[in-house]
Amino acid sequence: MSEIKRGLEGVVVDETKVSKVMPEINSLVYRGYPVQDLADNYTFEEVAYLLWKGELPSESELRDFQELEKEHRKLSPELQACLKLFPKNAHPMDAVRTGVSLLGLEDPTATDHSPEANFLKSVKLMAKIPAIVASYARLRKGKEPLKARKDISFSQNFFHMYFGEVPDAKIVKAFDASMILYAEHGFNASTFTSRVVTSTTSDLYSAITAAIGALKGPLHGGANEEVMHTLKEVGTKENASAWLEKALKEKRKIMGFGHRVYKKGDSRAPTMNKYGLQLAEITGNRKWHDISEVLEKEMIAKKNIYPNLDFPAGPVYHLMDFETDMFTPFFVMSRITGWTAHCMEQIANNRLIRPLCLYTGQGERAVPKK
Ligand code: CMC
Repeated sequence: MSEIKRGLEGVVVDETKVSKVMPEINSLVYRGYPVQDLADNYTFEEVAYLLWKGELPSESELRDFQELEKEHRKLSPELQACLKLFPKNAHPMDAVRTGVSLLGLEDPTATDHSPEANFLKSVKLMAKIPAIVASYARLRKGKEPLKARKDISFSQNFFHMYFGEVPDAKIVKAFDASMILYAEHGFNASTFTSRVVTSTTSDLYSAITAAIGALKGPLHGGANEEVMHTLKEVGTKENASAWLEKALKEKRKIMGFGHRVYKKGDSRAPTMNKYGLQLAEITGNRKWHDISEVLEKEMIAKKNIYPNLDFPAGPVYHLMDFETDMFTPFFVMSRITGWTAHCMEQIANNRLIRPLCLYTGQGERAVPKK
């Protein structure tokens, strides 16, 4: 029996051409391009295209792709009616998971595994998930969902559908950059989940529904929401040091810190932090940034544990006026691109994922006579 690697730590499961995580040089590249350069210079639509097609789009390819994405922003009347029936006090991640499952129910091409069909389904998911997220956010507050606009970008349209208005370009850019930074990250738990489901040759919607379930957990995507709860609990920068000391003494996990792969820092965090600082200036609210600074400095000094992307992302979304429990659904809106890129890669060269386990239960025994 080979050695057990709990949590599959260090285990190389398969090859991928989608992205490369390089902890030794603190870098992450999508199809060869450093993620921080993509975040600063490209749009989420261009990066989605890159992840799916392997190359950045030409001008005409981008135009066609944008048209396609805009075309699919609308939800069916049936899905809109279903969203109205969702409990208003559910966690938004449960609403998104159920919404994506319903998208699978109404797509007759769901089980078509051809690259063309899976690409179109991926674009539909990218276009429709923001509508599910924004509609649920409004419905639970007793507001009517808003119609998608076709004349503006992905991120602008999301603000429009959520708030009914599009903010300053710098705020939209910070959101768009977060979408790019969250888009892809190798064989993380949710992506691996999506590949496991795909490896059974099940459909894309089932793979994504399962991935959303995996992402929801606080040790994975749920951390960006937990970061905001932590910052609110700390309250002031003056309290940050004492709060951290107590929390570490109590053996609490500090949300937004640590990573299975990066042990010397997450390459995405400083880029998000840069946009966070801009936002603090725009809104005139440096409170969360100041608390974060103290926590970061002391976590590194005391534990040698660095912040991950969720740490700056939480306060960024907060300063944009989004409700805290909506943060992880934003991760879904972005990671849908990476998940589907991996599902397409898996199906193109498939082998059923089926690991082994070491049985440590009862020895074989006779069933008691009845
Ligand atoms: N706060 C306090 N201690 C920590 C933390 C933390 N955030 N992260 C790791 N440690 C300690 C941990 O207690 C352990 O100490 P010891 O060896 O004394 O028991 C040591 O560091 C190794 O940690 P681990 O939990 O075995 O490491 P892992 O690779 O299994 O876990 C992690 C990685 C991300 C689950 C973990 O760092 C964590 O729980 N972080 C907080 C949640 C979080 O921010 N998650 C987002 C991850 S990044 C975005 C994503 O990919 O979704």
